[in-house]
Amino acid sequence: MSKILYPERIPLANLPTPLERLERLSAQLGVELWVKRDDLTGAELSGNKVRKLEFLFAEAREKGADHVITCGGAQSNHCRATALAAAKLGLRSTLLLRVPDPSQPPPVEANILLDKLCGAEIRWVSREEYARRAELFPVVAEELRKAGRKPYVIPEGGSNPVGAWGYVRAIEELRAQLPPGPVTIVYAAGSGGTGAGIILGIKLAGLRDARAVGVNVCDDREYFVREIGQIVEGAITKWRLEVGFDRKEIEILDGYVGRGYALSRPEELSLIRDVARTEGIVLDPVYTGKAFYGLREHARELGPRIVFMHTGGIFGLFPKAAELAPLL
Ligand SMILES: Cc1ncc(COP(=O)(O)O)c(C=O)c1O
Repeated sequence: MSKILYPERIPLANLPTPLERLERLSAQLGVELWVKRDDLTGAELSGNKVRKLEFLFAEAREKGADHVITCGGAQSNHCRATALAAAKLGLRSTLLLRVPDPSQPPPVEANILLDKLCGAEIRWVSREEYARRAELFPVVAEELRKAGRKPYVIPEGGSNPVGAWGYVRAIEELRAQLPPGPVTIVYAAGSGGTGAGIILGIKLAGLRDARAVGVNVCDDREYFVREIGQIVEGAITKWRLEVGFDRKEIEILDGYVGRGYALSRPEELSLIRDVARTEGIVLDPVYTGKAFYGLREHARELGPRIVFMHTGGIFGLFPKAAELAPLL
């Protein structure tokens, strides 16, 4: 493997994250199951987003930005991590958070509490406005420019070719931790950047016997093949990476969105409880809980050796306390 040449990066995450073998779940599922603990990239500045933000904030700094703008669902982990990273680096942040009715903002709890605590400016946007976020970003950026700020826009989930480098690094890390041999890396797909980085990382690290399988937590397979495909192709073009790529290589395990994005089924919450009790690992209801549900249903086909990418999201559990309580 030749040395991977990374773009500029600002260290924000506690790396490398541990790789742990889950003995009891391996025995239950009849596979060799490992977990890459990216939920431990930090305490509050945590999860998969931090890896992407290391590269995105480096680009923001290079462009002279003093303010970042990003967007997500009301309880977005990405927005919380962005707001915290901005505060840590002395930048300000504006978050466009999607809610059913902007005149009735949700309670200040979990990720929203952390957003506010570290001084992010929150703008509540309706689902319709959010669908037009590509038009909204330049409007907000212009407004901030007029107020004397130097804004830098980070897309939903930090998912673009720059952010994807975070997961190229994660795969290089994993390569050094995992004994050689075939492996299937299973991850939750929300906006596609993690998947794109994993796919690129596998290619750049020369892991010929590795497969990446994303479990989508919203939309469908077609959507993610397009989103992930665009990011991978964008990175290959931008940095002239010498790797072959065909969108047909993108593997998405569809069918586990359940009741919809950020909505839980009792069986998903029960699995989160069971994993916590069996291995002391806490999954989240929006992303990793659903991805792990898909993994459990298809463990034999995904095996014999699986690495589950635990991308974090613990704060998403707290707004679900009332739904979880009867199961405990
Ligand atoms: C905890 C967690 N896991 C997984 C994902 C999905 O990652 P991506 O948006 O890169 O597809 C997200 C964010 O969307 C997340 O917050």
